[in-house]
Amino acid sequence: MGFSSSLVLVKLVFVMVFMGVVSAQLSTNFYSKSCPNLLPTVRSAMQSAISKETRIGASLLRLHFHDCFVNGCDGSILLDDTSSFIGEKRAAPNFRSARGFEVVDNIKSAVERACPGVVSCADILAVSARDSVQILGGPSWNVKLGRRDSRTASQGAANNSIPPPTSSLSGLISSFSAVGLSAKDMVALSGAHTIGQARCTNFRARIYNETNNLDASFATSRRRNCPRPTGSGDDNLAPLDIQSPTTFNNDYYKNLINQKGLLHSDQQLFNGGSADSTVRQYGSNPRLFNSDFVAAMIKMGDIKPLTGSSGEIRKNCRNRN
Ligand code: HEM
Ligand SMILES: *[C@@H]1O[C@H](CO)[C@@H](O)[C@H](O)[C@H]1NC(C)=O
Ligand SMILES: *[C@@H]1O[C@H](CO)[C@@H](O)[C@H](O)[C@H]1NC(C)=O
Repeated sequence: MGFSSSLVLVKLVFVMVFMGVVSAQLSTNFYSKSCPNLLPTVRSAMQSAISKETRIGASLLRLHFHDCFVNGCDGSILLDDTSSFIGEKRAAPNFRSARGFEVVDNIKSAVERACPGVVSCADILAVSARDSVQILGGPSWNVKLGRRDSRTASQGAANNSIPPPTSSLSGLISSFSAVGLSAKDMVALSGAHTIGQARCTNFRARIYNETNNLDASFATSRRRNCPRPTGSGDDNLAPLDIQSPTTFNNDYYKNLINQKGLLHSDQQLFNGGSADSTVRQYGSNPRLFNSDFVAAMIKMGDIKPLTGSSGEIRKNCRNRN
């Protein structure tokens, strides 16, 4: 390489570091000295929360996703509204839907008692998501840590960055690609819908208006608790995975193959398009699903973290310091 081209390379690397394109490294042992009891503290809080309400594991997994997709995994979804900004809790994908904030508060309090001022809310979400998956029967992994918390939140970014359940396959692929995740990551991460619930308002159009790729008896049974008129029963719940809604497994993909995806966006993954073959693989190979899910969760957890002296370590996850 000539002198001038290596100079260009040096400049390029400098610009990339400066812009945060090369993210400062998160590491699995980030708190091993500063908060050695972090992981058991979160684990036991998640155990007790899930034993009180199984669904809460799903809700915490989703919080980490909705955090990471909006300006990176920075705890922004946890901030309450203030006089200077409207937070993400009232953004379209979260309003009347995102839940589990009290559990995050409890975990944060327990962690603050053990190591005051050390562990970020963004990291608590990442660990809680992993614990939820594992406690409900899914795979485990080492969570990379060292994220810091944002001092602000963005309702507009939450509206625009989190894909809606009306998305087409290409819409889903582009929402994920906007945060550096591949189509395969998207299909694997969608397997999170093996647990948890959705509200009637999010699947009404699918069960009443779709004719393609919808199992008729599934639609009939879902209609029983989701009335057709908009506004009636909007918050009535149905499981995203009709077979095993409280166990983390690969049944989600089997449902899609059987035309029993609850959300329009779910069934888009198996609709004669480019994702069909991955859905078939995950539906028949739970080990492959687990390992691709884990890899994609780690990738999602790496989205634009605040590190070093950026952001802060919030004392209370709902408010900046
Ligand atoms: C692929 C695009 C995705 C779309 C369009 C989507 C959409 C939705 C919708 C509409 C709901 C129901 C919300 C409600 O009715 O209140 C939901 C629930 C859920 N989502 Fe997703 N989601 C997607 C990807 C993901 C990812 C990547 C994860 C996690 C890795 C995830 C985890 C969950 C969980 C666990 C629930 C159930 C939450 C609960 O019961 O509290 N989703 N999703
Ligand atoms: C976000 O969506 C909500 C609900 O649809 C809407 O009320 C709000 O004005 C939107 N906010 C921004 C900043 O776009
Ligand atoms: C179903 O489609 C009809 C005709 O396009 C429309 O008027 C109606 O609002 C749709 N219903 C739902 C639940 O989306």
